[in-house]
Amino acid sequence: MSEILIRNVRLYGVGDPVDVLLGDGEIREIGQGLGAGDSTEIFDGSGQLLLPGFVDLHTHLREPGREDTETIETGSAAAALGGFTAVFAMANTDPVADTAVVTDHVWRRGQEIGLVDVHPVGAVTVGLRGKQLAEMGTMAAGEAGVRMFSDDGHCVDDPLIMRRALEYSRSLGVLIAQHAEEPRLTAGAVAHEGPNAARLGLAGWPRAAEESIVARDALLARDAGARVHICHASTTGTVELLKWAKGQGISITAEVTPHHLLLDDTRLETYDAVNRVNPPLREASDAEALRRALADGVIDCVATDHAPHAEQDKCCEFAAARPGMLGLETALSVIAETMIGPGLLDWRGVARVMSENPARIAGLDDQGRPLAVGEPANLVLVDPDTSWTVRAKELASISNNTPYEAMTLPARVTATFLRGRITARDGKAVGRT
Ligand code: DOR
Ligand code: ZN
Repeated sequence: MSEILIRNVRLYGVGDPVDVLLGDGEIREIGQGLGAGDSTEIFDGSGQLLLPGFVDLHTHLREPGREDTETIETGSAAAALGGFTAVFAMANTDPVADTAVVTDHVWRRGQEIGLVDVHPVGAVTVGLRGKQLAEMGTMAAGEAGVRMFSDDGHCVDDPLIMRRALEYSRSLGVLIAQHAEEPRLTAGAVAHEGPNAARLGLAGWPRAAEESIVARDALLARDAGARVHICHASTTGTVELLKWAKGQGISITAEVTPHHLLLDDTRLETYDAVNRVNPPLREASDAEALRRALADGVIDCVATDHAPHAEQDKCCEFAAARPGMLGLETALSVIAETMIGPGLLDWRGVARVMSENPARIAGLDDQGRPLAVGEPANLVLVDPDTSWTVRAKELASISNNTPYEAMTLPARVTATFLRGRITARDGKAVGRT
């Protein structure tokens, strides 16, 4: 495999610029003025920074079943362009990823494409129906080695089923990720319950629908001696509960999406269904609490909840639209806007919340590693001083449902490396040659 030399780049955006030589899938050398062989590919890293490749714990790739909206191939391209070297593909496909046949297929397809490691998430319950546990052990023992289970899109709302899932997860050494939504409180709801939804005539989704499940699951995890991960935290109350639970020594972790950090329910004015998402966009005060919690470590990581949807499922009446928004290619820029811009995080902190912490939560030992000689070359090169204007048509996803259309955002991925191979460069995904 040929070598790659990144010249004059600042590791984590700090210190003096150095050269970084990649070879045999690893970081081979770090130093000043490194020499290059004839076949070495050179990157000019001047003014740029190097971070460990990002890890997304929450991606919907839609294959199998809705290949009209995204495929493992197009989603992998979007991931590589966004700086990700590993993504976790959610189980709400058709068929549902509730057997090793499906999870192993997703893993193999991701490896064939080779743009990003696609780790399948297994369903907690058969068919995501919340009634009967799926065969988590078989999925964990399969080729994909499934390590995370979630019924995302649905909440595991039956407390006894959730309790059993947590008990099994502990003995299997895997993680349960909960989409926290008490369905009795969200029946028919399409928007955050508050003054805006009331004025616009949209059925409200109370904060308590999320918070009641977060509180319950913290207690169930405590009793089971298991870990639990909270998907897409969206309210101030969830932040308070996480703080409390962590203070009690409960093994609870949480993610926040870029869109819940940047956007709020004032966006609903236009009734544009691109803004419909579960959990819903909350109030500005919630977004602020989420940003602070991510800065303080109460929320552990960023996860995109990349959720492609077809035009006919989005360009319709708000209440009839499917929930979800694209997120892979815009994640870094939204984090730069919400966290770096206001000084809540530095680039070292971005490496922590987009790479190191998600890798640790999922138990990946080849991702989120230090930028040091001998470590796997899963890396992302970032231009922190540029800006770009988001155009759905230019994104790699098949679907167009980005809420950031025409928005100008800071920072951009200039290259992504997976085990020392270029997977994205200057806005183009680079397949195996
Ligand atoms: O907005 C969402 N979209 N939230 C979810 O939990 C599921 C996701 C999807 O699959 O579209
Ligand atoms: Zn969800």
